[in-house]
Order: sequence, then C-alpha cells, then structure tokens
Amino acid sequence: MMITSLFQVNGASSGIQRCAHVVCGTKVARNPNMEKLKNGYLFPEIGQKQLAHMKKYPDAQIINLGIGDTTEPIPKIITSAMAEYSLGLSTVEGYKGYGAEQGNKELRKVIAETIYKDMGIQDTEVFVSDGAQCDIARLQLLFGSNVTIAVQDPTFPAYVDSGIILGQTGEYADYGRYNGIEYMRCAPENHFFPILSTIKPTDIIFFCSPNNPTGHAASRDQLVKLVEIAKRNGSIIVFDSAYAAYVSDDSPRSIYEIPGSKEVAIEVSSFSKSAGFTGVRLGWTVIPEELAYSNGSPILKDFDRIITTCFNGASNIVQAGGLACLSKEGQKDLHGVISFYKENAYILAETLSSIGLQVYGGLNSPYIWVHFPGTKSWDMFAEILERTHIITVPGSGFGPSGESFLRISAFNHRELILEACRRFRRFFRTVPSISSYSLNQTDFFLHH
Ligand SMILES: Cc1ncc(COP(=O)(O)O)c(C=O)c1O
Repeated sequence: MMITSLFQVNGASSGIQRCAHVVCGTKVARNPNMEKLKNGYLFPEIGQKQLAHMKKYPDAQIINLGIGDTTEPIPKIITSAMAEYSLGLSTVEGYKGYGAEQGNKELRKVIAETIYKDMGIQDTEVFVSDGAQCDIARLQLLFGSNVTIAVQDPTFPAYVDSGIILGQTGEYADYGRYNGIEYMRCAPENHFFPILSTIKPTDIIFFCSPNNPTGHAASRDQLVKLVEIAKRNGSIIVFDSAYAAYVSDDSPRSIYEIPGSKEVAIEVSSFSKSAGFTGVRLGWTVIPEELAYSNGSPILKDFDRIITTCFNGASNIVQAGGLACLSKEGQKDLHGVISFYKENAYILAETLSSIGLQVYGGLNSPYIWVHFPGTKSWDMFAEILERTHIITVPGSGFGPSGESFLRISAFNHRELILEACRRFRRFFRTVPSISSYSLNQTDFFLHH
C-alpha cells in the first residue's frame, strides 16, 4: 500500500484511510503488468516535453513535426455527410440509436468492395471500429496473455505496450527491450525488412506497412516471404495498413494482395491518416473466415464476441463520414490531401539530404526517418528542440533499432514545413560534426 499523505490516520488498523489529498491507497494491488511498463506511452511523453519547452520559451513558435497528427481540413463532402446525419438525429425519421456492433452494413460492404477490390474479402469479414489503435487493444484481448509476439524493430509502440499490459511479456530487459518479445530488426542494412530466417517463431507477428516509423513499405516479394513464414510456423500476422493510402509505388496496400494470406492474416486499418479522422475516430479490422485456431474454430467468431462485449459499435455519425470518404468524390478530394502531405515529405527529405543527412522513408509514407550515426536519439531530439523549436520523435522510442534515428512527420501546414526547413538548414550549418552523420547516398532519392 502506498501512503502518500501525512494526514493518513489509522489506515492499517481500521481499514479506513482518510486522506487530505487526492492520492491515497486503496487495498487494490496495482496490476503487475502495469508495473512492467518502463515509460509513459511515447507520444504523451513527447507532448510533455513540448509543454515544458513552451514554458521555458513562451514566445517561441514551436513547429510540431512529432506526434504525426493530421493538420489539413477534412474535405467538405465528408463533413457535410456527417453534419446531415447529425441533423437527421433531431428528427423522428432520422433518429437512430445503437447500431450493429460490427458496423453499418453499407459501410462494411463499401470497405470490402473498394479497399479490398479483387481480394475476395466479404463484408461480413469487415468489423468497423473507432480506430486502429483501439482494435489493436481488442485483438490483444482476444489473444490473451499466453501468446508470444514478434514486432518490427523499430515499431509503432501500441503493439508492444498493449502486449505488456496483457501480460504477454516478461520484465523490461535493457535498451528498450522487454523479455519475451521477438524484436525483428528493420534497419538500412536489411532494407528495413527482417531477416526472417533469424526470427524465433511466435504466435503473433505484428507487421506494419508502410511502416511507422521508418516509412518503408514492404515489397510484394517481402510480404510473400512473411506469409510463407507465418504458414510454416503456424503464426497469425496482424498487418497494420494505417498508411496504405500513402503508397505511391507498386508495394501492396493490403496483406490480402498476397495469395494464401487469408489463412494467416488479420488486417487493421484506419481513416485517421487517409481522411484526417485522427479526432473523428474511425477504423476497421478484417478477420477472414478461413483464419482459425489450432483446434479449427474460426477466429472471426471470437472477435465478434469481443466487440459485442467490449465495444458497442462506432459512432453512426462518423460512419456516415466513412461512407462519404469512400465515395468517388470523397476519394478524389482525399487524394489531394494525401498528395499535399507527400509533397511536404518530399520537401523535408530534400532539405535534410541536401544538408548531407541520410534520409529514408517519405516516398510511401508521411514520415521520414533520419539517421544520426553515433548520436543518441533523445539527445538529438533535445538539441533540435532547444536550438530550432522543432518537435521530432526520437527513434529509440520505437524500439532499440531506432537508436540514432529521428522520425520527422510531414503532417503540417506548408508554410510551417518551409519554415522548419529553413531552421533545419540554419541549425545543421552550425553543427561541426555533420559530416559524421552523413553518408554519400540517400535512400529517399535513390527511390524517388
Ligand atoms: C501504425 C499505426 N497504427 C495505428 C495507428 C492509430 O490509428 P487510429 O487513429 O485509427 O487509432 C497509428 C497512429 O499513428 C499508427 O501509426
């Protein structure tokens, strides 16, 4: 029991604790899995650094290229659909209460037909949600604490942190690693795709493409290999395609482009980065009928049980917006917004590589991944923040192989991206060791 107040009286003997302040102990022990979490979730931690910086420099114009939140307005056709649905709720004819937990039938059908065109996904295999991150947690709840997991290293932190909370891991080990997780190194030397022959088999493989944070989109050949290894080991792939709309080359946008993947893969996805729905909240998960446990029972049936128990369906207003996103006009307008962010990524990548830095990503992703060999990511994050008032994200926050990298987000208004580029140029001119960061080729331009 944690006793934090000097005013606590007779707590131990009477069983009643009186506290003058907010923090006082109950008899409830802390979930030991919560104890295992080493730090706060990465992005709120960056937010706290930003607040501290604002306090220190109240007049500074901070440019946020950190958390990866969208900044551009949602096209009118989409917000009008939500407004219209919302106003309809004030009428007798238009009022609706709870909807199907699995999502609006029409939206499930449109997702199956537009996003998974020619991939053989049925509307009944699509579960509409309030976002990919929430579905990742619900999938973890489905898997339970006895599964083993593998993640790309570096990786979007939600897979690891939710796995820790569920009890799938051991204690924190070192260098950002937890015991019991298989870290699949994705670095420049292996073209950001794990050497699968060296990976220990696990029950679940979390795989994100285009990847957050590296910006790398796995090729068709790479995903064929991933599906093969999952089949060989009897694993389930949880494929996160939250950034699929940013793919510019012929990299697959869905794991279901790979033949045979329906027997081994779940896909989670989101309207957040493709439609600016980070605050609106809408996503989906696909569980193919073919996907089964070792005893042959379908996983889809259990996921249905999870969402009917732990989730009551996405907002009907927001689902009306989702339908508008997938209409012809909606898709055309969203394509414009995505192209805008990709131009931002190009501008940032071009600036940083012209300075002599090694830059990855950006081509199929709103993120660029910048290498600073020999430098700790948190040190570089702090130095850039102090000297330029620009927020980035330290690569080590995404896993041990992210050390010495920074993730820079292209989500911002154009004038702020240009201003950030001016500040980067000025700052790096004054860094004497810049040549130690630089190599003589830049991945971004080799592939652009
Ligand atoms: C790879 C990845 N998956 C999921 C999410 C979360 O998506 P949502 O906003 O739909 O919860 C993010 C958000 O940054 C992400 O980067």
